[in-house]
Amino acid sequence: MSKINLDLNSPNVLKLAWLLSNGQIMLLTSTNKEKTINGIITLGWCNPTSFEPFLVIASIGSGGKETGDRAYRYCYSLINETKEFGINVPTPDLTEAIVKIGTSHSNEVDKFKETGLTPLHAGKISAPLIEECFLNVECKVTDQFITGDHTVFVAEPVQVFVNDDLIVDGRFSDKYVNKNNQLHMGDFVSMWNAW
Ligand SMILES: Cc1cc2nc3c(=O)[nH]c(=O)nc-3n(C[C@H](O)[C@H](O)[C@H](O)COP(=O)(O)O)c2cc1C
Repeated sequence: MSKINLDLNSPNVLKLAWLLSNGQIMLLTSTNKEKTINGIITLGWCNPTSFEPFLVIASIGSGGKETGDRAYRYCYSLINETKEFGINVPTPDLTEAIVKIGTSHSNEVDKFKETGLTPLHAGKISAPLIEECFLNVECKVTDQFITGDHTVFVAEPVQVFVNDDLIVDGRFSDKYVNKNNQLHMGDFVSMWNAW
């Protein structure tokens, strides 16, 4: 197979980023200090980063709203304010909700109301979790780095809830580990015919 050079200054770089995004799609929940706004954001860039201690990273756009920045995310300001968030892992039956959440701003629409998702009380963070997601991880931010137009939050899981059918006979159920029952960035790019 011969190789060609992919121009790093072309619009293909956006597609390259999508192609490099192999993790599952997650829904991150957050709230403000007064608990008057509950944010939800769709994320493809959320992954574990350490076993010992167990840590995860979430890369969230931190562009300015006033400049019309493509990387503006209201949830960035919520997480930056409270230093905590919930990770909620959806299954494909939540595709429509994932798109609504990933294409609107939490300060403009109540994403729980808009999608019909159910807020679930968390034990160790202020933000609600999402009942319909099979895995809910309460996280506290331990560090953060500006990488460019995104900020990477490093966070420690402090409490985890899973659907009671996740573990069957001591093993994680095929219902959740099967790739056909997971969502990845490419599924959305294909759905939008944007490759
Ligand atoms: C499939 C998909 C994956 C996304 N992944 C990310 C991501 O990893 N990081 C990010 O900052 N935004 C990501 N977004 C964009 C945000 O979800 C989107 O800008 C959202 O409207 C921000 O909501 P907020 O303003 O309430 O924070 C993704 C959107 C979709 C549809």
